[in-house]
Amino acid sequence: MEKTKKKGTVKFFNGKDIPLEMHKVRIVQALKLVPVERRLEAINEAGHNTFLLGTKDIFLDMLTDSGTNAMSDEQLSKMFIADDAYAGSQSFVRFQKSVADVFGKKLILPVHQGRAAENIISQTFVKKGTFIPMNYHFTTTLAHIQLNGGTVVELFTPEAMVIKSTNPFKGNIDINRLEELIKTKGAKNIPFIRMEASTNLIGGQPFSMKNLKEVRKVADKYDIVTVLDASLIGENAYFIMKREEEYQNKSIGAILKEMCDLSDIVYFSGRKVSSSRGGAICTNRPELYNLMKDLVPLYEGFLTYGGISIREIEAMTVGLYETLEEDIVGQSPSCINYAVNELDKLGIPVIMPAGALGCHVDASQFLPHIPQSEYPAGALVSAFYLISGVRGMERGTLSSIRDENGNDIYADIELMRLAFPRRVFTLSQVEYLIDRLNWLYHNRDLVGGLKFVEEPPVLRFFTGRLAPVSAWPEKLMAKFRADFGDSL
Ligand code: F0G
Repeated sequence: MEKTKKKGTVKFFNGKDIPLEMHKVRIVQALKLVPVERRLEAINEAGHNTFLLGTKDIFLDMLTDSGTNAMSDEQLSKMFIADDAYAGSQSFVRFQKSVADVFGKKLILPVHQGRAAENIISQTFVKKGTFIPMNYHFTTTLAHIQLNGGTVVELFTPEAMVIKSTNPFKGNIDINRLEELIKTKGAKNIPFIRMEASTNLIGGQPFSMKNLKEVRKVADKYDIVTVLDASLIGENAYFIMKREEEYQNKSIGAILKEMCDLSDIVYFSGRKVSSSRGGAICTNRPELYNLMKDLVPLYEGFLTYGGISIREIEAMTVGLYETLEEDIVGQSPSCINYAVNELDKLGIPVIMPAGALGCHVDASQFLPHIPQSEYPAGALVSAFYLISGVRGMERGTLSSIRDENGNDIYADIELMRLAFPRRVFTLSQVEYLIDRLNWLYHNRDLVGGLKFVEEPPVLRFFTGRLAPVSAWPEKLMAKFRADFGDSL
């Protein structure tokens, strides 16, 4: 197995804490920044939903890191030696080896992306009336569990919801509440405990190894299976190395292995963890593998390709080995850390400490005059696109659901997520983002709320359409022009 050498940080003579890139850019894609007048048209056409914008109108695409991380030269070159076959592909054999080397799991079910793994796991284990405890839900996880009649029980600690905190592990599950839940609901009604690495919806916050070990202990005591969502495991391992005393001299590889050893089933989105496409479920327990196995040919594809192009399987294989590198899994967190610290200095409310995946702006504090019923996080994302051309993602009440009476279930926190896909943006672009967000913060009173005009019943944030509650976008644009003249 490849070993990661722990590297020292480069210190700058000027004293600044600047992330230093350990790669060079050799293939580039041209970007365009369309004028603010076009951006207003575009966001109106998109129903103020950034998922519905076209990339021709986008400058920095910070919607997600899913399938948008930069790939390495090694990944691209390996795609050319893909062994295309419906069954028995040698590319799959190489993939199996990488999963065994990196995650220590021998039985692998390939799937086309992370949510496909969630479909198979949920269909197999979740039954009507069961409860699934977790540190926090992800949108697609919740949808699949509910679809199968299960109830998600989030057992985060109170610290998880503190926006500006110094707690290094806000993604921890509350162990006392976990044990309490098992006692009240009965172990037989809990098909599995789910832990999500770098907890996405609460700002990419990691859990500690200590916490995962405690989960294992509880699971063993009550004989419950544990499931690890490893989509952002590289970053979580990086934070364990940086923030957990005992692990400071361990390699990323050793930490990854230990995390997976503590989990019965590990699944991941290859779109995230391995900077490719695809995904997989893996385990060392044949009885669990056998329960899930038959659903793969039914929903995905044969067991040796799982609905993924074989080329992507090669890219996933290399990408998994690359997660062993501190320079790679630490690249996005260190840029996020830079942005978060700079924004904090400007008084802009951001989730702290900096987590994985992106920079998360607290819309409730940014736009305190917008009630949750008018989707402050959605309004912030829309306004920020308008004044910068940067596409973020709403992670708040819009991404939530309604209760049985049709009322919005308000999100615990209202966030604008600006994703930092690995090795994609430069520091000047990050400076632009900080500058425009600072301008918007000074003009935040001009931003108003949104209301739904078209609302799909499931995962509404993907395709729903909204409208501003007043003519605030026009007023914001006029102020932009007044302040910036003919600037884009
Ligand atoms: N689990 C986590 C923690 C995720 O962040 C995602 C996707 C999934 C599962 C589903 O994986 O997209 O391959 O089907 N997160 C993306 C995001 C969509 O933008 O945060 P998928």
